[in-house]
Amino acid sequence: MLRVDRLSVAYGSFKALDDVSLEVARRGTLHGVIGPNGAGKSTLMDAITGRRRPTGGRVHVDGQDVTHRSVGWRRRHGMSRSFQRTSIFPDLRVGEQLELVASQLNEPNLNGIVDTLQLGAVYDERADGIAYGDQRRVDIALALVGRPRLMLLDEPAAGLSTAETVSLFEHLATLVCEREVTAVVVEHDVDAVFRFCDSITALDQGCLLASGTPAEVRADPRVIAAYLGTAA
Ligand SMILES: Nc1ncnc2c1ncn2[C@@H]1O[C@H](COP(=O)(O)OP(=O)(O)O)[C@@H](O)[C@H]1O
Ligand SMILES: [Mg+2]
Repeated sequence: MLRVDRLSVAYGSFKALDDVSLEVARRGTLHGVIGPNGAGKSTLMDAITGRRRPTGGRVHVDGQDVTHRSVGWRRRHGMSRSFQRTSIFPDLRVGEQLELVASQLNEPNLNGIVDTLQLGAVYDERADGIAYGDQRRVDIALALVGRPRLMLLDEPAAGLSTAETVSLFEHLATLVCEREVTAVVVEHDVDAVFRFCDSITALDQGCLLASGTPAEVRADPRVIAAYLGTAA
């Protein structure tokens, strides 16, 4: 479904991402990306979505090489990414924003997205007036519009409490399954990632530490040393 092959990104002489490979085989799954600040998580998302040109390596989606495709081309061909877009049109109502994007991208079932993400109650509210947790779900709704095959979410739970993070991941797990979309999610809450993700990539200082199932990643000595303490 997604294959990232020896991807590298340099900012000048600094290698923010160094030869990172990962694979997400199945559709309708959640793939977590973990790593300390500065590990290269956002750079990886930017290189996969086309916002940042890689200095080496390839990105394949469904067998197609998209490495040098534009951001717009990727969005039209089933790759989306969440932005904190709720603030772009703060005076639009939530529903107006969703309908605007849905009409541009020919979304046939906006109601389904609104229902699953429980956005009915804020549909007629101004986007800048709703609670922060609701805004995070609006961001995910915007990324889901147009039936993407692949959705990249960079810290969608940033600023949420542990309970809100768990709830957001429950929604995500339901959505990826229902809509057969693969989601790659950067998340700081390692417990949530191990609980909800089907596969995980761990980065450190631009390099791949481990990639695989939660059990494989959890058992990796470098991951244990970096995140989970040395208690075995
Ligand atoms: N535009 C940029 N120019 C120079 N260095 C950058 C730029 N963006 C990120 N970096 C550096 O690249 C490294 C990885 O950053 P980033 O991908 O944002 O990490 P993460 O998302 O894991 O916190 C960091 O050391 C960061 O300072
Ligand atoms: Mg980041």
